[in-house]
Order: sequence, then C-alpha cells, then structure tokens
Amino acid sequence: MRYLRALIIVLPLSVFALACEGDDPVDCRADGANCSLREAAVQAGVQVGAAFREVSATDDPKYLPALTADFNSVTHEHAMKWAATQPQYGVFNFDEPDRMIEIAEANGMAVRGHTLVWEQATVDATPEYVTAITDPEELRTLMANHIRTVVGHFRGRVDAWDVVNEPLDTLGSELYQNIFYQLMGPGYIAEAFELAHEADPDATLFLNEALVSNDGDKFDALLALTADLLEQGVPVHGVGLQGHFLTEAPNHDELLANLQKLAALGVVVELTEVDIIARGQGDDAARLERQRQEFFDMASACLAVEACKRITFWGFTDRHTWIDSFFGPDLAPLPLDENYERKPAYFGLRDGLLSGP
Ligand code: XIL
Repeated sequence: MRYLRALIIVLPLSVFALACEGDDPVDCRADGANCSLREAAVQAGVQVGAAFREVSATDDPKYLPALTADFNSVTHEHAMKWAATQPQYGVFNFDEPDRMIEIAEANGMAVRGHTLVWEQATVDATPEYVTAITDPEELRTLMANHIRTVVGHFRGRVDAWDVVNEPLDTLGSELYQNIFYQLMGPGYIAEAFELAHEADPDATLFLNEALVSNDGDKFDALLALTADLLEQGVPVHGVGLQGHFLTEAPNHDELLANLQKLAALGVVVELTEVDIIARGQGDDAARLERQRQEFFDMASACLAVEACKRITFWGFTDRHTWIDSFFGPDLAPLPLDENYERKPAYFGLRDGLLSGP
C-alpha cells in the first residue's frame, strides 16, 4: 500500500524529470531567457530549495509539478523532526520522509534533513516523553540512539543535517535552556554533532539559527558559538541562517557581512528557511515591488559569498505557507502566488541568483 502510494506520486514525476533531465545548461543571462529558479541556480552553482508538506502534495495537483520545476533541493517542514521520527519512546517512523525522498530522487533534487535536536516550549518538534526525563544519563542515551537511528536510516540520501536547531534564546544571545542543556549542559551541542558525524561521515552538519540574518548581538553570539565549537574540533561543517523575515526586511549589506564572517571560519553557509513577508502600506503592486527588491537583496548577498551554497524557502507558494496559520493571512511570503504564478519576488530572486560572479 505504502509502495503503491509512493509509486502514484513518483511515476508522473519521473516522466516530468525525463523532460528536464540533468538540468541541461541554459544561459539564463541571455536576452529573452526565461529560466526557472532551478536553472538559474544551476548556472550560478548553488541550490535552491523549498520546504515540503505531504498533505499539500496529495491534496493539490498543482503542488508537485510546481515544486519540481523550480527547485533542486527539498526539506520536510515537519516529518524529520524528533516528534515525527520517534513519536514514541524507541519507536521510529520514516514513512513520510521516505516518500518525500523518493520524489526528490526521481527529480534530481537534493535533500536537507531538518532537524535532529530541537526542543523549545512553544513548538511541536520534541515529544513530551523527552521533556519529562530527569536523569541526564537517560537523556544522553536516548539522544544518542535518536541521532544514530535517524541519521543512519537516511545515510547517503540526505546530504545535510540541521543537527541542532535554534541553540540560542529566541530573542536573546544566551544558549537556550532546553531540556538537553538543562540535563547535559552546553556540551550537548558538541555531543550531538559527534554522533551525527559518526552516523554519516559524508553529511554536511549544520547549526541552524533564527533571527540572525541581519546585524545584532544574536548573530555575534552565533558566530562566537561556531568559532568555539570549531576550536574544540567539533564536526560543525555549516551554519544555517533561517531567514524568516517577519519583523524586518533583509538588509543586503548586513547579511553579506554576516555570511562573510561565518565563511571566514571555514564553514559553508546556507539560508535555510527563507520567507519574506510582503510588508508595508500601499497598494498590492507597491508591496509586491518592495518584496521583489527584498528577495533580490537576500539572494544577491548569498551569491556574493563563495561559501553560500543553497537558499531554501519555507514553502514556495503563498497557497501553502506556515505563515498563514502562525502570523496571519495575506502576508504572501513566497516567490509563487496562491495560483502558482510567478510574483515580482520570483523575478527578484532569479535576478539575485544570477547576480554572482
Ligand atoms: C514550523 C513548520 O512550518 C510548522 O508547520 C510547524 O508546525 C512548526 O514548525 N523554525 C524552524 C522550523 O526551524 O522547523 C519551523 O517550522 C519554523 C521556524
């Protein structure tokens, strides 16, 4: 049954994949070229990704063709978090991410794994049986088993992992005192990376953090944390800046400087969860035009830094976005509109992808 369902999703897509086999090089800067985001990204030597939701893919026939046409990387919005992969103590379930990976592989897309260790009071990433633990050794053993089992399951099919998500306070610069910190101390971060590296030595391992794209104390704290881990020899290979631009717009120069500072430590950098709400007053056209510029500013900052290798959006169409349910409707944060039409933001993004050297 499971196989049949995957086949139903994958078969038509494989046909589609054949039609654009191998991302044949097209000169996207040539006059009259009208490249997809994915073609522009290939030309630029980066990847462009989107977060995936299975329910949208099964309910909405336009979803998968649009996703696979414009993106060459994918990450699951929920199903690779602890709550989904180990919903009960010692019981693992990989059905949904496995189905996504079959789609990705049939369409030549990379897969980012999100995320191994992320506990925060307000989110649904970690089950209660974890936060109820009081014995440090029990938690250490459970975390080790979780990381080994999950990373081991996906070994060779997931190229990058957000090993620890949001290690810092949401609105501060200290280490967030999640259950792992409380019981194991700050060393939980290094332990998580060591375990992930053992389980898949070829995966690129990321620290991933929110609200650090522009200047600020929180970015400085992330930089210091990364430097400290590297100095200890911890296998941190990359840093992800989430890029949910909700309260402020991307500032090109600040983002560029941050990416350069991280790159100078010798890690790769990615923008991992971008959405940029259409902010401001004015008619729709003015808001969308401002948003076009903001998508350009964000993407061109990445493209100016050699170590910035992928930009992943947290969704891709305004029809299916977490922003609607968490922050309200009509914020239109993604490059395709509700009808899967290209928005000004799409063109700003594509120009940004093509702005590199
Ligand atoms: C969000 C998902 O989009 C929602 O569907 C889910 O209910 C909560 O999590 N930072 C992250 C992501 O690292 O995992 C979050 O995703 C958005 C904020």
